[in-house]
Amino acid sequence: MSSNLAAGDHPVYNYKVVRQFAIMTIVWGIVGMSVGVLLASQLAWPALNDFFQPYSHFGRLRPLHTNLVIFAFGGCALFATSYYVVQRTCQAKLWGGWLIPFTFWGWQLVMVLAAITLPQGMTSTKEYAELEWPIDILIALVWISYATVFFGTIVKRKTSHIYVANWFFGSFIITIALLHVVNSAAIPVTMFKSYSAYSGAMDAMIQWWYGHNAVGFFLTAGFLGMMYYFVPKQAGRPVYSYQLSIVHFWALSSLYIWAGAHHLHYSALPDWTQSLAMVMSLILLAPSWGGMINGIMTLSGAWHKLKTDPTLRFLVVSLSFYGMSTFEGPMMAIKTVNALSHNTDWTIGHVHSGALGWVAMISIGAIYHLIPVLFGRAKMYSVQLINTHFWLATIGTVIYIVALWVNGIMQGLMWRAFNDDGSLTYSFVESVVASHGGYVARAIGGAFFLSGMLIMAYNVYRTVSADETSDQESVTPSADPAAAAQTA
Ligand code: HEM
Ligand code: HEM
Repeated sequence: MSSNLAAGDHPVYNYKVVRQFAIMTIVWGIVGMSVGVLLASQLAWPALNDFFQPYSHFGRLRPLHTNLVIFAFGGCALFATSYYVVQRTCQAKLWGGWLIPFTFWGWQLVMVLAAITLPQGMTSTKEYAELEWPIDILIALVWISYATVFFGTIVKRKTSHIYVANWFFGSFIITIALLHVVNSAAIPVTMFKSYSAYSGAMDAMIQWWYGHNAVGFFLTAGFLGMMYYFVPKQAGRPVYSYQLSIVHFWALSSLYIWAGAHHLHYSALPDWTQSLAMVMSLILLAPSWGGMINGIMTLSGAWHKLKTDPTLRFLVVSLSFYGMSTFEGPMMAIKTVNALSHNTDWTIGHVHSGALGWVAMISIGAIYHLIPVLFGRAKMYSVQLINTHFWLATIGTVIYIVALWVNGIMQGLMWRAFNDDGSLTYSFVESVVASHGGYVARAIGGAFFLSGMLIMAYNVYRTVSADETSDQESVTPSADPAAAAQTA
């Protein structure tokens, strides 16, 4: 490496923006999950709502949590990894000049504005799209810049091939742009209030076309891009089947978009749209599991590494949770199952088996892989602390989702129990009282997960501030999976 480069700088690639996004992934993860633990505690001990009314009210903090964990934590992880992967697999420096820092600072500004406006009750009321119209415009500008940088780099690539991870990142970027622009169309009445351009059942349909594909493309396709680079890289093996990854990509991209109406079963939506969404959701199981199997089988010949490498364990266990939540989702999309699960804690358990088990775990694995490379260190400060983090995260997630399965199924059964005379067996309040134990357990599970993130922050701080540098190429000796795939 040339001597006038700072530790971690690469002579060819732009690692500065990757470093910035990687660090902010951890910062926003801690902030967003702290709000999650507070919300979980408020549901267990409602007096915790009272501290700083109205700003501390559950109803105002809930959208803050979802925005911070999905878009700030998950978003920064996606920016960091896509900017890294596109450079490494295209063997080209990020293209786009000032647009590159604009995507970083613009995205941070969006998140700070979310943290200011949501607790004040400023909201469009659309779930996962609560931010008001001036912030929506800023999001659109950042996203267009992101697309320009990402695809500009692909155009400038020095390889003939576009590695499959970039296909997933690319489809995530394009689809999110489309979803955001269509769903956020609104008529502004003041600087801080707007009304949706759609109404009634059509508004609901567009909202859940957006909402479900935010899951499909933000929380899934982008993270699959991460999986296709970091799992082979950390395992030191090429992707199990490159052909399967291409089938996986096209099947997933073409199926997800039809399934949104499973969020609106038994609603005013035409019955055929609900049934179509149910069928499409069931078919979605196939590509989801194909992708999971492709990721897990990449470890063929490298299973022994799981014993000593907790980073690889994060990546592989995330795939198991991905498989679990994409089995559970299609089951919940069956109308008769949804009649029991809808509006219960089962949905929240499903959300977090995807969000904590899949999204957060794969991001954490990818960031542990990246930090030494980006900061020019030989390895993380402590592998033992990564291991402790791994167990806190895994046990925390399991406690969280098991508690809510029990709560959810119990609530569904209690709400539909009738006496012989046709009256309800249980009042709603009785089901809330019966859920208390599950809420306490969920708060404990969440606290486990959050403490793992604090340990990660300490470990990263010690790694970054350590007084040693190394040549990053020696840290990751295995070939880029793109190159390996092409050779194969
Ligand atoms: C320490 C970790 C976390 C805890 C304790 C936690 C806790 C919570 C709580 C209490 C709720 C409200 C549930 C309700 O209204 O009944 C919630 C909602 C939600 N959380 Fe988390 N959360 C955590 C991490 C995450 C992460 C990392 C993500 C995403 C990457 C996430 C995504 C969501 C989503 C999407 C919802 C809304 C679910 C729905 O409307 O169905 N959470 N969370
Ligand atoms: C094949 C894959 C999947 C299918 C078919 C599916 C299906 C479903 C269904 C049927 C619901 C319940 C809707 C309701 O009753 O209101 C749901 C809720 C949800 N799922 Fe999934 N799911 C899948 C995978 C995932 C994954 C991997 C994640 C997260 C990373 C996820 C995140 C969510 C969220 C956030 C909600 C709650 C939405 C809300 O009401 O606010 N899903 N999903």
